Amino acid sequence: MNMNHDIRHDPLDAISQISCTINTVRELDPLLNTIMDIALQTVQAERGFILLLDDAGEFTVQTARNIADDVAIDLSRFSNNVVKQALSQGNPVMAFDVQADDRFAGAESIVLQKIQSVACVPLTIKQRSIGAIYLDSIQQRSGFTDDSLPFLKAFANQAAIAIENARLYEQLQQENQQLRKHVQEAHRFDGIIGSSPAMQRVFDTMTSVADTDATVLIQGESGTGKELIARAIHYNGVRKDKPFLALFCGSLPESLLESELFGHKKGAFTGAAADKKGLFEAADKGTFFLDEVSELSPHIQVQLLRVLQEGEIKRVGETQIRHVDVRIIAATNKNLFEEVKNGNFREDLYYRLNVINVNVPRLRERHNDIMELAGYFLEKSSQKNKKAINSFTPEAVQALKTYSWPGNVRELQNTIERAVVLSRQTKIDRSDLQLQDNPTPSLPIGVKLKDFERQLVERTLSETNGNITETAAQLGVSRRWLHYRLKEWKDEDDR
Ligand SMILES: Nc1ncnc2c1ncn2[C@@H]1O[C@H](COP(=O)(O)OP(=O)(O)OP(=O)(O)O)[C@@H](O)[C@H]1O
Ligand SMILES: [Mg+2]
Repeated sequence: MNMNHDIRHDPLDAISQISCTINTVRELDPLLNTIMDIALQTVQAERGFILLLDDAGEFTVQTARNIADDVAIDLSRFSNNVVKQALSQGNPVMAFDVQADDRFAGAESIVLQKIQSVACVPLTIKQRSIGAIYLDSIQQRSGFTDDSLPFLKAFANQAAIAIENARLYEQLQQENQQLRKHVQEAHRFDGIIGSSPAMQRVFDTMTSVADTDATVLIQGESGTGKELIARAIHYNGVRKDKPFLALFCGSLPESLLESELFGHKKGAFTGAAADKKGLFEAADKGTFFLDEVSELSPHIQVQLLRVLQEGEIKRVGETQIRHVDVRIIAATNKNLFEEVKNGNFREDLYYRLNVINVNVPRLRERHNDIMELAGYFLEKSSQKNKKAINSFTPEAVQALKTYSWPGNVRELQNTIERAVVLSRQTKIDRSDLQLQDNPTPSLPIGVKLKDFERQLVERTLSETNGNITETAAQLGVSRRWLHYRLKEWKDEDDR
């Protein structure tokens, strides 16, 4: 772009061309470079830099052309210099015989740099200086005369706007990136929904154990997502390309289960027509998921203990010991420790399994997840059933939120699926959900109201990981009320 030609013949046209150019550059650095080029061409300067006000409120050199950074910094800082005048007056400063110009007498940097022509144009937005364009030359350039001033001023106005826009754009992009990161973190595991603090804790544990061989015990009520979690641990870890085998421990009688797990020798029992590999061998180098591990008989518990301790198995009917390298993930919807206390489960096995413990909370304890999951299942179900249902009526939302979900996520999933099939509208209504009205929750009788209030608050707080805002929202009280109460209880305790 030949600016001089354009300016002389049609300054307005030149400005509008420039503003078109600079407004198409969205990123700050390329934009500053373009602005620098145009400014240098306008007055035929050899050197220049752009100063911008940074977040700390300081003017800093952003883009320098043919000037070493330290010189640019020096020129931008020097007291009583061109930049300072331009910025403080909010007007361009321009001279083409600097050494003889009173305004710059004693400006050491100008003398040292042998500068003959100099210009500085402030970049102003709403009468606020956001920066300046500095230009100079060691020759006496005619471009540095007042003739160029109107053009430079108009150009600087356009440039300032473009710079502000680019900064805003970059800021938005950063915010977007952060949001995306946040969303990714909330959905670290494909297809597992949950932004509640309780699920985030589960995800944290999953992240830290996925790449290890540590044995994991997943405990949670039926339908809370234990199997989903077990699979995700496997498929996000180093064993992901090896098999993931799952066995429901309660499904087979003991003898069959034993040969299923450990294999058998031909003729070991009636029906053992050939040698057979067990599931542990088949899962070698991969992961074995023992679902409902509390169902294992004492005999199989002992053998499992050997797998965990020594990595050893024996096929039924064989004396030969075989080595397997399997990672074990076990799940149960019972309280396994209770089973140990009641003598139904070996204590040593319990501790071997419970190296890493994942407790999957009940759905009703993850208030925040209910609607997120409901939306997720709604989208999946309506796609599957080719229906254009995209939301819930306020009454349906209320019902989903207050129902107690004894069957947890599985029940929620089935409820939504059924509602999608039944509904003839574009919104799921309360009646489509077919939820039984909640039975009155069993309330503690004979407890003082005051104590009950405190218990309820403390339980909710622990479920929300100490999150005041969420606790207040769940209890339907204000944060102030909550703070006030907590302080009151603390004072009572301190007394
Ligand atoms: N957080 C979640 N996000 C998405 N889907 C989920 C989530 N949790 C559970 N589900 C879905 O709910 C259903 C039940 O999950 P899963 O089978 O993993 O539960 P479980 O704890 O193993 O239940 P059970 O104890 O009855 O075997 C599955 O269809 C699963 O995909
Ligand atoms: Mg399961």
